[in-house]
Amino acid sequence: MEGDKIREDILVDFLKPGMVLAGDLFSKEGIFIWPAKKPITQSVIDELKKKGIRELYYTKNINKDLSQNMPPMFSEEIKEEAKEAIDNILEQVKKDEKVNVEEVRNVIEKLFKEMISKLGKAAINLSIVKNYDEYTYTHLINVTILSMFFSKFLGASDFVIKEVGMGAILHDIGKVKIPTSILYKPGELTEEELKIIKKHPIIGYFAIKDEPTVSTYAKKIVLFHHERFDGNGYPLGLKFDRIGRYPQIVSLADVFDALTSERPYKPGMSIPQTLNFIMKKSGIYFEPLLAQKFIMEMSKLYGLPSPYAIGSFVLLNTGEKAVITQKDSEYTLRPTVLVIENALGKPDTKRKINLYLDSSRYIVRSITEIDEIEKLKIIMT
Ligand SMILES: [Fe+2]
Repeated sequence: MEGDKIREDILVDFLKPGMVLAGDLFSKEGIFIWPAKKPITQSVIDELKKKGIRELYYTKNINKDLSQNMPPMFSEEIKEEAKEAIDNILEQVKKDEKVNVEEVRNVIEKLFKEMISKLGKAAINLSIVKNYDEYTYTHLINVTILSMFFSKFLGASDFVIKEVGMGAILHDIGKVKIPTSILYKPGELTEEELKIIKKHPIIGYFAIKDEPTVSTYAKKIVLFHHERFDGNGYPLGLKFDRIGRYPQIVSLADVFDALTSERPYKPGMSIPQTLNFIMKKSGIYFEPLLAQKFIMEMSKLYGLPSPYAIGSFVLLNTGEKAVITQKDSEYTLRPTVLVIENALGKPDTKRKINLYLDSSRYIVRSITEIDEIEKLKIIMT
């Protein structure tokens, strides 16, 4: 499959200056318009419009990971309903009207039922984005399904799972108040523009905070979905003990779907690359245990090997660095390790610890930095 290209149709209306396409752009008749990976200019767009050329296409590589022949996770019918519900609520937020969350809740109920009926039967097949204008909806639905699925895996009650779904589907509603010139600005944002974008969790929260039928779980997700484990997120800069696990679950799902999705201006990252990124941010952006569980569950779902290979190095919550020596199953989060560096960064006496028996210790992340690995290898010998 690798290297296979498919034709992707795109309307001239979806082109924005600065946009970079993953493949060469052609008119419907096959006339070459613009090269891949070069930012599109306003004058090209104007020229196309002047000539009355509306329909275009570009070629893109098939994302191998996501194009397996799995049945879709949710039906077109639900997707259409979700689209309409999202559209309506966004319109209400935009006009400062009182929001009606009932439509969205109905969608969550249906997604929940669909998820339960498919549990254990099929891997999560997040749909491939077909059209640029569908990206927003598809992304929101994917984040919602992933967050609900992961909450279920963590043992949350049906009530909590649905509230996580509510929070996930509503998490970015505040963005509707951010000028599109900033939201879709190609290139780097100024400090002032960043400040404006960073207001979207607060705007979203204020739109739903007085809704009696929306729980605190969902409200916290909207307000805290850009907070980070280490306290360096926004808008409040809270640490994990104040953020809680559910906003972090939505952050994980948001990052996973955003990075793996192909957009007209960027190819999708592969699933292993994306899980690697999450691994690097474990204990920084994400609460480590949640991040490790997410990575393990995704690896299992997509048939990838566990990141905890025998002989690989890990950082423990105690600050100790260890090598994995034994495990009782491929996807265990609690293998047996040999501690080779203590929390002070000094060589250890190589204590063997079975993490299954020592519940005070857990893995924060895999160590992937080459120089760090080299150093640990030297200590080991
Ligand atoms: Fe957001």
